[in-house]
Amino acid sequence: MSEFEALIKAATQARENAHARFSNFKVGAALRTAQGKIYGGCNVENATYGLTVCAERVAIFKAISEGERQFDAIAVVTDTSTLTPPCGACRQLIWEFCGDVPVAMANLEGKSEIFWMRDLFPKPFDASNL
Ligand code: THU
Repeated sequence: MSEFEALIKAATQARENAHARFSNFKVGAALRTAQGKIYGGCNVENATYGLTVCAERVAIFKAISEGERQFDAIAVVTDTSTLTPPCGACRQLIWEFCGDVPVAMANLEGKSEIFWMRDLFPKPFDASNL
């Protein structure tokens, strides 16, 4: 079993709960703590559209609100042939809360690819700039 298999499975399961009635684009994410615990998240849309929260940020906020602070990987799952990368807002928060972690992007057909945050989010603004 690959290092990311359980994480991708958790993101796939979280995707089932996506509240995506406006875009119909269901996204699942899963965040793994340094201790190996996994927090899932799905995108949550609403009628204003703009207040939508992406799956990645839901997973991060769930974990942070449970007291977690150390993370070592995140997965994103969609039902698309082209794998889905985190949006800009999510890259900012993944960087700030997780640092240079691997991002496993996967689809429902078993395709997956690993990218590192340093490549997805070069030249970040973060607490070190303050
Ligand atoms: N979305 C995510 O949840 N994560 C991503 O990485 C990309 C976009 C959501 C936001 C919105 O609910 C839908 O996908 C379409 O943009």
